[in-house]
Amino acid sequence: MEVIRSPRQMQERAEALRMEGKRIGFVPTMGYLHEAHLSLVRKAKRLSDVVVVSIFVNPTQFGPGEDFERYPRDEEGDRAKLEAEGVDILFSPSPEDMYPAGYQTFVEVTEVSKGLCGDFRPGHFRGVATVVAKLFNIVRPHLAVFGEKDYQQLLVIKRMVEDLNFPVEIVPGELVREEDGIAMSSRNVYLSPEEREKALVLSRALFRGRELYEKGEKDARVIRDAVREMIEAEEGVALQYAEVRDAETLEVIERIDRPAVIAVAAVVGPARLIDNVVIGREDK
Ligand code: PAJ
Repeated sequence: MEVIRSPRQMQERAEALRMEGKRIGFVPTMGYLHEAHLSLVRKAKRLSDVVVVSIFVNPTQFGPGEDFERYPRDEEGDRAKLEAEGVDILFSPSPEDMYPAGYQTFVEVTEVSKGLCGDFRPGHFRGVATVVAKLFNIVRPHLAVFGEKDYQQLLVIKRMVEDLNFPVEIVPGELVREEDGIAMSSRNVYLSPEEREKALVLSRALFRGRELYEKGEKDARVIRDAVREMIEAEEGVALQYAEVRDAETLEVIERIDRPAVIAVAAVVGPARLIDNVVIGREDK
């Protein structure tokens, strides 16, 4: 696996690959890789000739008081995992190379960034859209895979790509869970065994919401309230939101007569966790 740190070098490498007619698949990450990240890598590999993975803990998407400094890092471990998957290029730039002195340009996706995580992490999606736009210009991928775990992020990126005419196909990757149901996340490492046990309420509540829907409940509010109540009843779990939204636009819906996402966020001990399930969709 080739490791590239300089944005300019990565750009030149991408240009050369394009000249050779190679299809570039891209998986952007912040590292501390787990099985869910690797599932995205495998998907990219199936769909392209050359796979590029980036590892960059992006300072502009963390708010003051958030976990930028303590975000878990394991460069060696990550490298071994990517090698084992047959990744071609690891792009791992420094913050100084991504945001040199004098940096002042940002990308804002206005509507779909509002609500849900947007309400609790002001500026977060602006940081995400900005870094992904930069990464697209550096890696020049034909396609990029984003996980449905970060459901709002996926829609923000899709919107940005459409609005700014990025010649990149955005491919969604299925949400991957641990055996006990918890959504895989680099942040799960923050949880003590007791906190982790409590955090299971998020997936349990979402599965309960999905079950209600599958048994015939089509009133979004009834499902939302059931999910909320279950999470609120768990001591040590501070619910931020539990919402049922249109799966394409994230608009509030009353009846579930089209694909919808039940999305939740909560703080458990030192970790802010998010999770979701999609209901009313063919493949689910
Ligand atoms: P990170 O949290 O490292 O996630 C990288 C990619 O892995 C994202 O597309 C995310 O949705 C996906 N992912 C994480 N956990 C997942 C799970 N349990 N199931 C499926 N996919 C999962 O998301 C980011 O980094 C950053 O915001 C980034 C896009 C790299 C921009 O900085």
